[in-house]
Amino acid sequence: MDLYEHQARGLFEEHGILVPRAEVTASPKEAREIARRLGGRVVVKAQVKTGGRGKAGGVKLAADPVAAELTARRIIGMDIKGHTVREVMLAQPVDIESEFYVSYVLDRAAGRFLAIASAEGGMEIEEMAATRPEAVARIHIDPAEGVTSAKASEIAQAAGLPPQTVDVLVRLWQVLTREDAVLVEVNPLVRTAQGQILALDGKVTLDDNARFRQARWGEEDAGHDDPLEVAAAAKGLNYVKLDGEVGIIGNGAGLVMSTLDVVAGCGARPANFLDIGGGASAQIMADGLSVILSDPDVKSVFVNVFGGITACDAVADGIVQALGAVRLTKPLVVRLDGNNAVRGRAILDGHAHPLVQQATTMDGAARRAAQLANTS
Ligand SMILES: Nc1ncnc2c1ncn2[C@@H]1O[C@H](COP(=O)(O)OP(=O)(O)OP(=O)(O)O)[C@@H](O)[C@H]1O
Ligand SMILES: [Mg+2]
Repeated sequence: MDLYEHQARGLFEEHGILVPRAEVTASPKEAREIARRLGGRVVVKAQVKTGGRGKAGGVKLAADPVAAELTARRIIGMDIKGHTVREVMLAQPVDIESEFYVSYVLDRAAGRFLAIASAEGGMEIEEMAATRPEAVARIHIDPAEGVTSAKASEIAQAAGLPPQTVDVLVRLWQVLTREDAVLVEVNPLVRTAQGQILALDGKVTLDDNARFRQARWGEEDAGHDDPLEVAAAAKGLNYVKLDGEVGIIGNGAGLVMSTLDVVAGCGARPANFLDIGGGASAQIMADGLSVILSDPDVKSVFVNVFGGITACDAVADGIVQALGAVRLTKPLVVRLDGNNAVRGRAILDGHAHPLVQQATTMDGAARRAAQLANTS
């Protein structure tokens, strides 16, 4: 689960990292009061669980309480990459001398956490890693040792950060381990004109497997940050949003995982993971299709079913009923194989929906779905 910036800020503060004074509100009127309390001038920041808020106009300086109210009114309700802004954080402006980047992120391939740090903060780290890789230090953390002062000094030196950041690096590691996070990022970490080190922006992702011992976050968002994932979860679907264009529905997690690979191998990108499980009833099929079709990125849909205990004719009936309930707006490629595949295919042939086509193999179906996504 991702935390909002103000929640990350709260954790930093609890662990002794300096942060600007700030308060959160959903009300522009209250924003004016808060600005007054904070001294008049404030930075008004959209609270959404996605990056690039500044570029989207979601981070603005307001010169006085009246401007803070107006700015809050403009930012609340704004859409940032599909996330509606419900709250703003008002923070005291800081006199920035320099901006740094620091993060700890789980490096699954290495089986370790990785410290990423740079003396050139503020800009997006992906962009910097691509254009000026020499300005980004990457140092793995030994899980048994963690980030000691010595390790923190090594990170700070490699990145060219001032020595006052060493203490922050140690505390940030405590945030990661004690709060069961898999990512903590501060961008920017700043040095003020007075020489203080402050975290001006924070991103924390908690480990969902540790939710049971981090009870304070409750069931908030149930771990879903994407609006489509929230909609799918409400229907009880096993759905994960991905970045591509080919919508995927399959029965069984293993089959769906390999379907993603095969689609990627055909030169297209899967738009989601969706496992409808063994039953594959008409209702589940209709629910799955409606979520996938509401994804604006989806150009084609690939239904990949291997009939085992559930026979393909039952699945085909489910698809036909689902097509009665959901208006199909994008081409659908269906591959039915296994138990009663011939009967299942005949049912779909009989239905003869103009946007539905069948393929007999998984590779063939994936190629077709990829082709449809790439040409539409
Ligand atoms: N309290 C503050 N005082 C002064 N400047 C600030 C403050 N908060 C943010 N800024 C400035 O605004 C810039 C952008 O703010 P921030 O990093 O919070 O948003 P962002 O990076 O655009 O959002 P995201 O993390 O979603 O990409 C910072 O790099 C910093 O220069
Ligand atoms: Mg930032």
